[in-house]
Amino acid sequence: MADLGVNIDHVATVRQARRTYEPDPVWAAALAELGGADGITLHLREDRRHIQDRDLRILRETVTVKLNLEMACNDDVLAIACQIQPDQATLVPERREEITTEGGLDVASQKARVAEVMARLRDAGVSISLFLDPDPRQIDAAAELKADAVELHTGRYAMARPGPQRHHELEMLRQMGARIREAGMALHAGHGLTYPNVRPVATIEGMHELNIGHSIVARAILVGFEQAVREMKRLVS
Ligand code: PXP
Repeated sequence: MADLGVNIDHVATVRQARRTYEPDPVWAAALAELGGADGITLHLREDRRHIQDRDLRILRETVTVKLNLEMACNDDVLAIACQIQPDQATLVPERREEITTEGGLDVASQKARVAEVMARLRDAGVSISLFLDPDPRQIDAAAELKADAVELHTGRYAMARPGPQRHHELEMLRQMGARIREAGMALHAGHGLTYPNVRPVATIEGMHELNIGHSIVARAILVGFEQAVREMKRLVS
């Protein structure tokens, strides 16, 4: 059975739309724990578009399950990570103009830099997961660097139409999952997973952790909307 890491970035996205105090991702993390989350995941981006430094600081104090920090190989965020010491850091690529993390980290062509970042995080007692495309070249590079885990990018699977194309993407995830485990690394996956498409990924052999954000936040807005309107209606009338 896979663990569920709940990504709370988009709770912060709604807050940052007004630069106000609500909704607070710290509250969302507590509710996610009540709902059974095995981990809380957040991405402190260089441009601070959603999660803020204050969120990470407070969450380190309040989260009682695994705290997983997604981060780029960026010196500023690395220094913060080493100071705050999340349980796990997931190294991801980052481009300012992207809407979300678009592809996996290209570890194969920047092994030296990734090794340096991993060494700093290890010294701070942080376990390391690398967010990679389901590409054997990248997975072999992660194994060489002795990453603790690889998170397979499930974006292509999630975007594929149901049918042969999706089947092919799922098969790639299965094969790369086996390669990751054979190399002694833990198997994680995430990106674009939704209520309808998650089960085939969750049941890949040896799947240890799934990180899911957007779909959970989207559903939370809709399942909570009616009650929120009722409460406001009572006040207004
Ligand atoms: N895993 C990683 C490494 C990510 O960058 C993201 C998006 O922030 C997720 C998982 C969650 O993706 P989604 O929000 O599409 O569920």
